[in-house]
Amino acid sequence: MYLITGATGNVGRPLIDHLLAAGAQVRATTRRPATAALPDQVEVVQADETAFPLDGVRAVFVNPAAIGNGLDALLTQAKAHDVRRVVLLSTSAVAVPGNPIGEHHRELEQRVMDSGLPWTMLRPGAFNSNTLAWATEIRTEQVVRAPYGEARIAPIDERDIAAVAGEALLSHDTDRLHNAAPVLSGPEVLTTADQVRDIAAATGVSLRFEEVSPEAARQSMVEAGVPAFAVDGVLGYYAHATHHPTTVSPVVQEITGRAPRRFADWAAEHAAAFSTTH
Ligand SMILES: NC(=O)c1ccc[n+]([C@@H]2O[C@H](COP(=O)([O-])OP(=O)(O)OC[C@H]3O[C@@H](n4cnc5c(N)ncnc54)[C@H](OP(=O)(O)O)[C@@H]3O)[C@@H](O)[C@H]2O)c1
Repeated sequence: MYLITGATGNVGRPLIDHLLAAGAQVRATTRRPATAALPDQVEVVQADETAFPLDGVRAVFVNPAAIGNGLDALLTQAKAHDVRRVVLLSTSAVAVPGNPIGEHHRELEQRVMDSGLPWTMLRPGAFNSNTLAWATEIRTEQVVRAPYGEARIAPIDERDIAAVAGEALLSHDTDRLHNAAPVLSGPEVLTTADQVRDIAAATGVSLRFEEVSPEAARQSMVEAGVPAFAVDGVLGYYAHATHHPTTVSPVVQEITGRAPRRFADWAAEHAAAFSTTH
């Protein structure tokens, strides 16, 4: 049995499909079991950051966004249940000096390591689905306004993170993901303008990329309700990638045996989200 926290999330949902396809038993936590729409085979449990359903669980997928302040309770309870691996969804931002999102995840990583439980820290870079935040501007004005036009990132399809997470959970006894912290990326280094070009190709609509100042971007994010530390984290990530272009990681290919999915293909699959007919 495998416990997935944040089961409806960007990585949790495809992770469930991966585990079910491998014939594994899956238990999933969510704040809203009645509407989570998870597959019938999944044992769905109400999320509770003080008590985790760990009976018979061999390995746990920990999504920091889904467990609130419950990490220490989860680790203590996992030890009591003889859980054999904790797979933490971390971030490549742990390697960006002074980045608040990175520092937060590094602290979570440390607590997992200090627990004495076997672990895998997955450190993906920017998710492909982050670009869904551009959907309204694209639909209404055919433009993407973003800062740091020179930043070079290697955005990753969440299904590829899920595939590596699935291997980390399923091969919990012996493998190269034991007490490892792999950085995960997509297959190519792209600027925001490159991603806009791929969305334009996917939708068949001519789109513009308009670079805005970091200050203007900050104001938009604050107005949209993004917490201050997340604003600093995201802007800092792109500022860093301007001077330190992301390098492509071989890990998805090495662990799954196939190349990571391309952003252009993700954009084609999600074209409806960026189209006016949506
Ligand atoms: N986005 C990126 O580019 C990126 C890159 C690297 C790392 N990460 C990390 O990946 C992790 C997941 O981030 P994500 O943005 O992809 O989120 P997500 O996993 O898609 O969403 C969070 C999930 O947690 C559950 N949840 C429980 N309490 C919540 C709350 N108070 N607010 C929101 N969701 C809550 C929700 O499920 P229910 O509604 O079913 O309860 C939701 O499906 C984070 O630690 C993030 O820092 C993100």
